[in-house]
Amino acid sequence: MCFKTMDPKELLLNPITTLGEEWPLITAGSKEGGFNTMTISWGHIGSLWGTGGTRPTFIAYVRPHRHTHEFTQASDMFTISVLPSDFKDALAYLGRVSGRDEDKVAKVGLTPVFEQGTTYFAEAKLVFICRKLYQAPIVEEGFVDRELMAKVYPERDYHTMYVGEIVSILAR
Ligand SMILES: Cc1cc2nc3c(=O)[nH]c(=O)nc-3n(C[C@H](O)[C@H](O)[C@H](O)COP(=O)(O)O)c2cc1C
Repeated sequence: MCFKTMDPKELLLNPITTLGEEWPLITAGSKEGGFNTMTISWGHIGSLWGTGGTRPTFIAYVRPHRHTHEFTQASDMFTISVLPSDFKDALAYLGRVSGRDEDKVAKVGLTPVFEQGTTYFAEAKLVFICRKLYQAPIVEEGFVDRELMAKVYPERDYHTMYVGEIVSILAR
C-alpha cells in the first residue's frame, strides 16, 4: 500500500463516470467500534460552504435500511474508496449483500485500513476521507418532479444525504 496525499485542486476525474460506472465504496466506522461498507453510484463531488475559497465536498446518499446507515449516522467521518476496474465483481457483491448478514469484506478479500478515525481499503486507487458537515433525509415535499419521487421511492425510504468535507485525498 503506498498512497500519497493529493491537493484537491489537482484532482482530475470525471465525477459522472467515477460514480456511475466505477461504483465507489462508502465506508464508515472504526477498528474499535466496527465498520461497514457498501457500493454507491449516486453522489456528488464539488465545492460547498467555503467562505473566501473552495471547500471540497463529497455528498453521498444512503437508504435508511442499509446496514452502512447505522455507521454513517454514528460516525463523524466517512470515506469513499474508488477501486481499480478488476474489483468490479467485488463491488457488485458489496452492493448486493448486507454486512448485517455476513463479513462481506472478508469474503471479497478487501483489506481495511484504519486511519484518521475511519476506515478505507488498501486496494483503492483513490480515497476521499470526509468529515461529516451535514446529514438529513431527502424529504417528500422537496420533490418538484413527483413522478421521479414515486419511481425512486415507492416505499418512501428516502435516502439520508451526507455532505462531507473532503479533508484528505489519497491517491496511488
Ligand atoms: C452499483 C450500485 C450502486 C449503489 N448505489 C447506492 C447508493 O448510492 N445508495 C444506497 O443507499 N444504496 C446503493 N446501492 C445499494 C447498496 O450498496 C446495497 O444495498 C448494499 O448491499 C448495502 O449493504 P449494507 O446493508 O451492508 O449496508 C448500490 C448498489 C449497487 C450495486
